[in-house]
Amino acid sequence: MERKKFYITTPIYYVNDVPHIGHAYTTIAADVLSRYYKSKGEEVFFLTGVDEHGAKIAEAAKAAGKEPKEFVDSLVPAFQNTWKNLNVEYSEFFRTTNPAHEKIVQKFVSDLKEKSFIEKRKYEGLYCVACERFLQPDELTNGKCPDHGTKPEKHSEENYFFLLSKFAKNLLEAIEAGEYQILPESRRNEVIGKIKAGLEDVSISREKVEWGIPFPGDESQTIYVWIDALINYYSAEKIYFPNSHSRGGGNLLKMDPRVKPEDDFVVWPPDIQLMAKDILWFHAIVWPAMLLALDLELPKKVFAHGFFTVGGQKMSKTRGNVLDPNKLVQKFGADAVRYALLRQFPFGEDGDISEEKIAARYENDLANGLGNLVQRTISMINKYELKTQNSKLKTETQNSKLGKLVEELKFDQALAEINGEVSRLNQYIDENKPWGLAKSNKEKLAEVLGFVFQSLSSLVPSLSPFMPETAAKMKKQLETLEPEPLFPRLD
Ligand code: MSP
Repeated sequence: MERKKFYITTPIYYVNDVPHIGHAYTTIAADVLSRYYKSKGEEVFFLTGVDEHGAKIAEAAKAAGKEPKEFVDSLVPAFQNTWKNLNVEYSEFFRTTNPAHEKIVQKFVSDLKEKSFIEKRKYEGLYCVACERFLQPDELTNGKCPDHGTKPEKHSEENYFFLLSKFAKNLLEAIEAGEYQILPESRRNEVIGKIKAGLEDVSISREKVEWGIPFPGDESQTIYVWIDALINYYSAEKIYFPNSHSRGGGNLLKMDPRVKPEDDFVVWPPDIQLMAKDILWFHAIVWPAMLLALDLELPKKVFAHGFFTVGGQKMSKTRGNVLDPNKLVQKFGADAVRYALLRQFPFGEDGDISEEKIAARYENDLANGLGNLVQRTISMINKYELKTQNSKLKTETQNSKLGKLVEELKFDQALAEINGEVSRLNQYIDENKPWGLAKSNKEKLAEVLGFVFQSLSSLVPSLSPFMPETAAKMKKQLETLEPEPLFPRLD
């Protein structure tokens, strides 16, 4: 039987610098979803990676005095190590310099050309290299890019255009019918508004950018980095699952030696694509239109989360407030960073984060909350020589209410629920005073601590996608009754 992998994607990040906490935010969220769906018995394919071509990378390489390929090769380990440090278990790490991907992109573009959805036109516009896109005059603030504060370059060249405007109607229908879900609701409305206002055709090649994939049939141009990058989601299936039978797919290229013949999964389409709102236009308009053009199935869901500021300010190198996820992991541990980022504000909204805020979460919710609860419960069970029903530990099944919150990407609410339960249990202990019951009412004592013990064990599966290490430690401690601080005091 043909099985469908639950396919989760993050954006592929630009490798012009090391990853920061913004990249970590999306990737951690994807990992939580991946672990959650795995715990429900799904076969998950979780894809992340890096975007390696384009002017932005070429300029960064030049500034570093390196050849582009040498430069990206030098930065890739920083991404992979960061994900390892954060306990992110992706299935594959995608690189757009993978020769198999380059061939698939060229085939994809040739197919668009063959279907007459590509035209050559003269184009003049204002290009922001940091954004890697043309900006419309009304997007500028004082003539500058609102995101980067830099003056865009005037570009005038002959480019190949993808006839995006042709797909406005079909795309709108797919969105309105709910076949193609865009979340949160406010972002969906934004996208619908943009489509209704009219879509212009988009340039998909660059004349003066050498660091890219040659445009099929015209070596004087390279494929625009965004088109190259978006196709990664599609290439991945072709590369890693050449036997997949999805519509329009499969059997195209068999060049990855790791693929075994028994890999007969269908991977396409993605079940959920994550990103921040900054790149929703590419993901929810350009990308699905390209798929419609080739009769490929649309992803089921895209979710654009918010942007965060650091200490109330936009994160930037010049401000010096860029948070390095690796330093945070060193200080607080991977689980606390994962927890703090997702707990702080709703996933779909903007919010603020800082080292102080993470430290406060660590102290209040984790060290004094969960850590203290586990430690004192196990210590009292030992001290009062109570028998717990180890064999009945409910550490496997997901709590359905919390599971639903995860499926809706309401990570902050799921964690608030867990934290609320921890507070209630700590309070329950304070009110029932087991230390007093030990003298007066042994039966009640066993009941009270037995209840807390069982409640803790049933929290394990819900905690596990968010804080895998902590959940594993908790499970072991509940089984062996050997307590050890889960969240040691910070220096
Ligand atoms: N290379 C493109 C994506 C191509 S996907 C086919 C790109 N790369 S990026 O390195 O700029 O990454 C953008 C993404 O990083 C955002 O969409 C988001 O997932 C994450 N974030 C970067 N900064 C962020 C914040 N300050 N806050 C939240 N997420 C942030 O765009």
